[in-house]
Amino acid sequence: METMLQVNGVAKRYGTGKQQVQAVKQVTFSIRRGETFGLIGESGCGKSTLGKIIIGLEPPTAGEVLYRGEPLWQKNRFQRQKPGDIQIVFQDPQSSLDPRMTIRDIICEPLLALPAHERKEKGSEERLHNLIKRVGLKVEQLSRYPHEFSGGQRQRIAIARALITDPQFVVLDEPTSALDVSVQAQVLNLLKELKRERNLTYLFISHNMAVIRYMCDRMAVMYKGEIVEQGVTADIFRQSAHPYTASLLSSLPSLFQQKGG
Ligand SMILES: Nc1ncnc2c1ncn2[C@@H]1O[C@H](COP(=O)(O)OP(=O)(O)OP(=O)(O)O)[C@@H](O)[C@H]1O
Ligand SMILES: [Mg+2]
Repeated sequence: METMLQVNGVAKRYGTGKQQVQAVKQVTFSIRRGETFGLIGESGCGKSTLGKIIIGLEPPTAGEVLYRGEPLWQKNRFQRQKPGDIQIVFQDPQSSLDPRMTIRDIICEPLLALPAHERKEKGSEERLHNLIKRVGLKVEQLSRYPHEFSGGQRQRIAIARALITDPQFVVLDEPTSALDVSVQAQVLNLLKELKRERNLTYLFISHNMAVIRYMCDRMAVMYKGEIVEQGVTADIFRQSAHPYTASLLSSLPSLFQQKGG
């Protein structure tokens, strides 16, 4: 199977002098076309930093990232082979959607990075209407503003925004962590369906083992900037090799139930 993304010995240090933080140290993994690859670990272990390196928001300080065989970073320059081919959905739909923009403008914004003819084609009314309906919202809602929506609806808007460019690869950075448990399940199922319909490949970042088990084919466990274990999700849940994974498993929250409920 084709390798979509190859992360080779990637490291990331923020800041200088005494303020230095080694957020990621020597991380290596690869993601095959069509799979959902999970990245799990406690807060601050470097998950989002890896996501940012992959979508071009932060350059790595060492190592290389290959997307479909081509390096994404040349020194500190991000190489956009095909704009919009890699997209991201962030955790917090409250702060990731500009409150002054209409839903239409929010969803269509990523198209600005595309060449004019592609922008026109991908941003057609027909495609936009199909997309907004597909994520579970209504065409009339395109002229509204983010504050008029619930957290779950806002995350549906963020998903539509990620998909408007017709990406092949999507980074999902804690896409449901801010949502109620029942809403979380609906959004996870929507993401699964969209992946199947559009042949997407996902990097799925979470600190929730139950969500990772539900979503991911393979997974990597991060601890303090390093991957301590990776493999097929079912294998790791059957028998984890690393004590840190075992400690994550022992605090496994239930996916579809409230804690203690
Ligand atoms: N822009 C930045 N400047 C300086 N330090 C940063 C920056 N972004 C992240 N860090 C630090 O890098 C480390 C890794 O952060 P990162 O956001 O990647 O963690 P994470 O695993 O996504 O955590 P969480 O689960 O809380 O989202 C943390 O120590 C964080 O404080
Ligand atoms: Mg994060």
